[in-house]
Amino acid sequence: MNRMAVLSLVALLGACNAASGAETPDGAENYERNCAGCHNPGPGHPGTMLLEQLERPVPPLIGRQDLELDYMHLVVRNGLIEMPPFRPTELDDAQIKDIYEYIMKAKPPVPAPAIPVKKAP
Ligand code: HEC
Repeated sequence: MNRMAVLSLVALLGACNAASGAETPDGAENYERNCAGCHNPGPGHPGTMLLEQLERPVPPLIGRQDLELDYMHLVVRNGLIEMPPFRPTELDDAQIKDIYEYIMKAKPPVPAPAIPVKKAP
């Protein structure tokens, strides 16, 4: 391999590294990774189902306007009955705040129907 090829390979590897290092997940992505599985709308989400039983006006987290950051932080760090706690190494305080800000401003996803609706031909 000639010198130019080696040099450009090294430069390319450097670029890949810098690109992946710069990608820290934002609030939306951390919500998707850590909360959506239990808290998105629709059946099959235990968080949403239990909060429905507790008669929260908006059972999915997204779309709620009554949550306070301190309360959400407490629940995420300590867990709540059926909900597992998250360690600071899993989500640090700043990431919890980013998730909170995402929840407060995001539009709720449309719940997927349990049985897909067939359109008339
Ligand atoms: C394994 C499922 C699960 C995951 C993952 C999960 N939760 Fe929960 N969460 C629940 C359940 C279930 C409840 C209802 C508490 C109960 O009665 O058990 C709940 C309750 C809550 C509440 C209390 C809401 C209220 O009205 O009192 C908040 C806030 C909350 N979760 C935030 C989060 C956030 C933020 C994440 C992601 C970082 C998350 N949860 C991840 C299952 C989960």
